[in-house]
Amino acid sequence: VTVVTAYKQLAAEGFVVLRPGAGTFVADLPLLPTPRDLSARALSPWAQRALALSVANGKPRHVQIDFGFGRTFPQHFPYDTWRKLLARYLSTDDVMLARYGSPAGFQPLRVALAAHLRRVRGVNCAPEQVIIVSGVQQAIDIIARLLIRPGDEVLVETPGYMEAYNLLRVYGAVLHGLPVDDEGFPVERIPPESAARLAFVTPANQFPHGGTLTLERRLWLLAWARRADAYILEDDYDGELRYDGHSATALQGIDDAGRVIYLGTFSKVLFPALRLAYVVLPTTLIPPFLATKRLIDRGSPTLTQAAIGDFMAEGYFDRHLHQLRETYGRRRALLATGLQQVLGERVHFSAVAAGLHIMVQLPTNADEAQLIQRAAEQFSLGLYPAAPYHLQPGAPPAILLGFSGVREEDIAPGVAQLAQLLTEG
Ligand SMILES: Cc1ncc(COP(=O)(O)O)c(C=O)c1O
Repeated sequence: VTVVTAYKQLAAEGFVVLRPGAGTFVADLPLLPTPRDLSARALSPWAQRALALSVANGKPRHVQIDFGFGRTFPQHFPYDTWRKLLARYLSTDDVMLARYGSPAGFQPLRVALAAHLRRVRGVNCAPEQVIIVSGVQQAIDIIARLLIRPGDEVLVETPGYMEAYNLLRVYGAVLHGLPVDDEGFPVERIPPESAARLAFVTPANQFPHGGTLTLERRLWLLAWARRADAYILEDDYDGELRYDGHSATALQGIDDAGRVIYLGTFSKVLFPALRLAYVVLPTTLIPPFLATKRLIDRGSPTLTQAAIGDFMAEGYFDRHLHQLRETYGRRRALLATGLQQVLGERVHFSAVAAGLHIMVQLPTNADEAQLIQRAAEQFSLGLYPAAPYHLQPGAPPAILLGFSGVREEDIAPGVAQLAQLLTEG
C-alpha cells in the first residue's frame, strides 16, 4: 500500500508517468538552469556587486586561548530578567503581538533611548528622532539608499568598518579612505577639492585602531560638513564601553546644523543575535528614512523592543552596563599591562581604554598572516588580522586582540605566547 501510494503521489505531482500495460516511467522534465546561468543572465548589477564583495565567514577554529574580537560570555547577560520581561508581552490577550508595530519603533523604547542617549552620550535628541532598526547595518543600508548615487565619493577611515564600507560600495559609492592615527580620523587631510557629501566615522573609539577624535578635529569635521553640505555618519557602536571615565560627548551633541546621523547598537552591550540598533536622525531625514524602513520591512520586531524598553526604564540596563564596564575594563587593563610589560617598545597600541579589543601594531618586519598561523599551530592561540580592515593592501602589520570573551587567567599566558612567537619570528 505504501509503495502504491508513493507512486500515485509521484504521478500526481508529474514526476513519473504511468503507462498502463507498459509500466511507470520518469517524466521527461526540462532541466532547471544552474545558479551560474542565473547570476550571469538575471542578477541585477547590485546583486553582482554584493556577490563580489561578500565575505565568507571563516570556519570557527578551535583554540585554547581565543582573542577573538567582539566575543562575550553569555553568563554576563541577565537572562532571568530578560526572560521575565519577555514573558510579560507573551500573554494571549496582549494585542501588541497581533498588530504590525510602527516602522519608527516601539514608542516606549524610543522614549527610554532618547533619555539614555542624552544622559550617557550627550546626544541632543527628542524621541521622534530616534528610529529603531534591525542592526547598524540596516541603518547604513537605508542611509545609503537615501543619500548615495552611483559614483558619489564617501570619506571613510582606514583601517575601518569594512561591513559598512562594502555595503556603501554595493550602492555605488566610491570610498576615499584617510589613514587614521591615535586621534582618529585626520580631518585636516580632507582634500579641499573633495566632492564628498558623506563621511563615515567612529569618533568615540576608532574602529579598529582605537583612539578618540579630538575636540579640535570634531569641530573641524562639523565645519567641513556645513561647508560641503554633507552628512556625517557617526558610528557610536561602543560609546558606552569606556573604562577610564572620560567618555567624550557624541559628535552629534555638538552639532548645531543637523549634519550628524548618529548610530548606536545593542549588539555589543546586550547581544548581537537581537539584531536591534537605533539611529538618531536630523529632523529633515526622518520622513524619507521612515518611508524606506516601512517599505523594506515594516518595522523591527516589537516583542524584543518592548522587553528592551522595560530593561532600560526599570534600571536593569544601567546596572548591566556598569557590570560590563567593570568586567571588560579589568580584562582590558590586564591585557594592556601584559602587553606593555612583556613586549614594551616592540608593539604599539592606542592608550584609550575603550571598546572590546586592542589593535596591536607589530614590529614592522613581522609577518601578520604567518604569525597568526604559527599562533594557531604552535599554541592553539587565536589571534586575528588587521589587514582585512584596510582599504589598501600593504598596511603595517597588526593584530586584533579581543578581550571581552577571554578568561582573565588566560590573558597573561596568551601574551607570553605572543611574545615567544614574535621572538622566534
Ligand atoms: C564598528 C562597528 N559598528 C557597528 C557594529 C554593530 O553592527 P550591528 O548593529 O549591525 O550588529 C559593529 C559590530 O561588530 C562594529 O564593529
